[in-house]
Amino acid sequence: MVFSPAAPVMPFGIEYRDDRIGAEERARLMADPGFGRVLTEHMVTIRWTAERGWHGGRVGPYGGLSLDPATIGLHYGQIVFEGLKAYAQPNGEVGVFRPDAAAERLRQSARRLAMPELPERLFVQAIEELVRADREWVPEEVGKSLYLRPVVLATEADLGLHPAREYLFLLIAFVTDRFFSGPVRPLSVWLCEDYSRAAPGGTGMAKCPGNYAASLLAQQQAHERGCDQVIWLDAARREWVEEMGGMNIFFVMDRPGKPELVTPELGDTILPGITRDSLLVMARDRGYTTTERPFSVAEWRAACADGTMLEAFACGTAAVVAPIGTVQSEAGDWTVGNGGPGPLTLGLREALVDIHHGIAPDSHGWIHSIR
Ligand code: PLP
Ligand code: COI
Repeated sequence: MVFSPAAPVMPFGIEYRDDRIGAEERARLMADPGFGRVLTEHMVTIRWTAERGWHGGRVGPYGGLSLDPATIGLHYGQIVFEGLKAYAQPNGEVGVFRPDAAAERLRQSARRLAMPELPERLFVQAIEELVRADREWVPEEVGKSLYLRPVVLATEADLGLHPAREYLFLLIAFVTDRFFSGPVRPLSVWLCEDYSRAAPGGTGMAKCPGNYAASLLAQQQAHERGCDQVIWLDAARREWVEEMGGMNIFFVMDRPGKPELVTPELGDTILPGITRDSLLVMARDRGYTTTERPFSVAEWRAACADGTMLEAFACGTAAVVAPIGTVQSEAGDWTVGNGGPGPLTLGLREALVDIHHGIAPDSHGWIHSIR
């Protein structure tokens, strides 16, 4: 199928709600938002058809979709999504963290699922329109943010198994203050050997819902074992560490001079995290050696036993940086470092949060400002 080339930026139809939630009720909802529950009042939609390419951009009230029961996305999972955050800036503007990188990853995910690619300019325009429509929902406090959730869904009603000829781009948003409950604390993780998240040649590097559906049982197993999160190992040998839940993973190794940060190298079984990439850059800025290479379970355990591993943490848009304290597996349990959140982990977390909120200078041009 031939997909349309990059579409020009299009004028959006704009229909704001005239029955907006009052300031008092909004403040009540935003006080303790958690993750994914406090949705804002508008959404963006853009259509794609084989004939017209991307068209019909619109900002309208948040609300239900009417879908034909034979919609391809519902049956065959031809859907991709993204996750990125907007933060109130000290100058009154709203800063969105690396929307260009999220746009690029959405295109990569779309390619893997034989879907049309949304041009970056249109992706960013959609975000700008939604942030302007829902400006009051961008929290002012450090530690809170507006999580943006772009989705592309195959909407053609035709149950033949083929790439759809119609798609819907959707952008919704919610207020969040945390992904894990409570303050930042070291997580306990379960090394999952019964299920795989991704396999060579599969969709592990794409952000598509099937990957997350396939992860839920393992996450349930981790909870049953009393662990917070699941660690994904390579599907073939269960030897190599790949990710933690919906996050990438880093190990901090004791080296002469300064610690070294090691993270599994990207391949088709690991989601190329934007937080991962940002932390690699920030760690190098701070003079740490960073290494992207395969990292085995055996090395993890041995390095904790002999004290070479100082810290481990996971990272992603939702949780930012989350320390890992203890590991459980069929073969036994162990503690990372002293089991507490390590200073390098907490330092990188704070430095990234400061960039998000415009407290530290944006020296890499990661913040896209919206007035
Ligand atoms: N790995 C998986 C499977 C994810 O779902 C995510 C979250 O998006 C990440 C890693 C981290 O990616 P990012 O830092 O871009 O949010
Ligand atoms: C993230 O945004 O960091 C995620 O992992 C998304 C997840 C909640 C599905």
